[in-house]
Amino acid sequence: MKFRSIKGTKDILPAESAAWQSVEGVVRTVMADFNYREIRTPVFEQTSLFARSIGELTDIVSKEMYSFLDRGEDSITLRPEGTASTLRAYIQNNLAEQSPMVKLYYLGPMFRQERPQAGRLRQFHQFGAEAIGSTSPQLDVEIIAIPIEIYRRLGISDSRLKINSVGCEKCRPTYKELLTIFLLNLKDRLSPESHLRIQSNPLRVLDSKDENDIRLTATAPLIKDYLCQECRTHFDEVRRLLGAINLSHEIDGRLVRGLDYYTKTAFEVTSASLGSQDALAGGGRYDLLVAELGGKPTPGVGFAAGLERLLIVLDKLGKNNFIETSPDLYLVSLDEATRQWAFVKAMELRGKGMRVELDYLSRSIKAQMRDANRQSARYVLVVGEQELKSGRGKLKQMSSGTETEISLENIAVPQ
Ligand code: HAM
Repeated sequence: MKFRSIKGTKDILPAESAAWQSVEGVVRTVMADFNYREIRTPVFEQTSLFARSIGELTDIVSKEMYSFLDRGEDSITLRPEGTASTLRAYIQNNLAEQSPMVKLYYLGPMFRQERPQAGRLRQFHQFGAEAIGSTSPQLDVEIIAIPIEIYRRLGISDSRLKINSVGCEKCRPTYKELLTIFLLNLKDRLSPESHLRIQSNPLRVLDSKDENDIRLTATAPLIKDYLCQECRTHFDEVRRLLGAINLSHEIDGRLVRGLDYYTKTAFEVTSASLGSQDALAGGGRYDLLVAELGGKPTPGVGFAAGLERLLIVLDKLGKNNFIETSPDLYLVSLDEATRQWAFVKAMELRGKGMRVELDYLSRSIKAQMRDANRQSARYVLVVGEQELKSGRGKLKQMSSGTETEISLENIAVPQ
């Protein structure tokens, strides 16, 4: 029988690991620069946590979750995103008691049963951050600045920032009514999917990818024009602060996001290097979510970004020259006695922090040299009967071909 990986999942092979590790390294460095601390939550949670936070009627909850009954008959779901789990952990572990302002980040796999295509997987990876405890627009802008700083450090120049305000519990209901009336006038001409959403989730109609829907709703009322004073002031301040740190942005009044927990700011960062799935990162404010999940009413704002999509962009822009680690030294042995010696010596040197490789296939000297070359070993030491007897050998630098005589007792390679 032949086994294959599940559709929409990917193996990250050794040749790709250098890119993953470098990008993860930049993510961790930037998160530390912004003083966000890492949180690692389980990859599965109670299904109701996601239904309650992301929203029963969203695509994610209604058709994309990997949910199953465990042996105790509880409904469990593989996390489709990180915000719900992070806030669950924040509430459960009383993190608010340690500090009124909590800044957390995460990095790991997420699961959504979407139709796989370029940039869209069923197991994908996100990095993200959540700033919990303050309504300050400074935090909205800090959260927006994190992914953009990560992209800047990686050399991405083609990202675009789109922002909107989706209002709050005060201004949204009136706007929703207006939008519903507008949509009801069009209802028979909208796509079946948008038609269904008119009553259940009218804002999402604005997010339809159907060209006819987009044309028909071109003159739809937009929430940004119906904000209450508080939301308007907040939005204006976010825009002013983006200007103060020179982050160019455009307002996209149709940006509503696919998760229901947002209030006030919503944003997305896109890249022209991606195809139809062009969102590199997305996020926004969620001032009602902590209370919705059973915590004390606490405001928050956050973002998440796809790692696979980031790697696609780096590839497209040719910013993908990540250096794989390679052996410092390759020990070439010529017979059984030297193979024994090389094995013990390799262990000793590795214990001192040197990256050492040797031959396990009793290959010819030529084949071993080829292997050292393929593995990009920096130095090679060929050891035969002669070298073992004299206790001396020739250390060859592969890049220059220069040979230096050294003592086998005391092997060191220049950095
Ligand atoms: P999201 O927009 O659903 O937001 O996902 C954020 C990012 O994850 C997307 O922009 C995209 O780069 C990546 N992504 C999403 N789905 C897939 C997929 N199927 N395959 C590959 N990449 C994907 C959230 O998840 C929110 N939790 C963001 C947030 C945090 N809001 C507040 N805090």
